[in-house]
Amino acid sequence: MASSNNNASLFESITKDIVDKGYSISHYALPKELTTLLLKHIAVLPKDDFQRAGIGRAEDHAINELIRTDEISWIISNSKATCEWLKWTMSLQVFLNRRLFLGLFSFESHFSHYTKGDFYKKHKDAFKGEDNRVLSVVVYLNKNWSVADGGELVIYDNQLSTAFVADNSLATVTPSLGTIVVFLSEEFPHEVLPAKSDRYAIAGWFRLNNSIANKIAPPS
Ligand code: OGA
Ligand code: MN
Repeated sequence: MASSNNNASLFESITKDIVDKGYSISHYALPKELTTLLLKHIAVLPKDDFQRAGIGRAEDHAINELIRTDEISWIISNSKATCEWLKWTMSLQVFLNRRLFLGLFSFESHFSHYTKGDFYKKHKDAFKGEDNRVLSVVVYLNKNWSVADGGELVIYDNQLSTAFVADNSLATVTPSLGTIVVFLSEEFPHEVLPAKSDRYAIAGWFRLNNSIANKIAPPS
């Protein structure tokens, strides 16, 4: 593929950021052909494919709504766009495993859709000893996003308590088309501020080998 050389330098800079600080933000970085495919895919995704995130028992649902109000659609390889996305994330996985010996084994991801007023309060994607999510990746699929559209991703410092500093945010990311964010899942609390327009993204997670992880810590 024509973009493989670009991927090498992009993957290299993501790797360096992860080593240096544990998170990485790359603007306009998603390969152009892939971005275009994903944009077209989202435009024709049936509305019914999106479900309230974390649907479960009624009680869980109520609690869940205090935390997040977006809708999600899990990604499977059922289209050119999603196949190319999964190919791209696989090449990132292979690169990171070669360079960092992370032992990333599998990948899962979903589209997310926030409408006006939707948010995702501060959370972590994984907890030490409880989960085998190692690395989170988020890419944004919003053309012409402006400051007035809100919906920023805020990444916080896990070590620095707000008992000691007024603001422990490390980065605020505008969800603009092609921006890629990667971070260590257990290390960085983060939140999505209320969106003021329709906001589309993909969130995904690289996991360790389940069968190995389950031998170390029994499944809960
Ligand atoms: C998530 C998440 C961030 C974003 O889905 O877990 O934190 O900016 N998404 O959409
Ligand atoms: Mn998250």
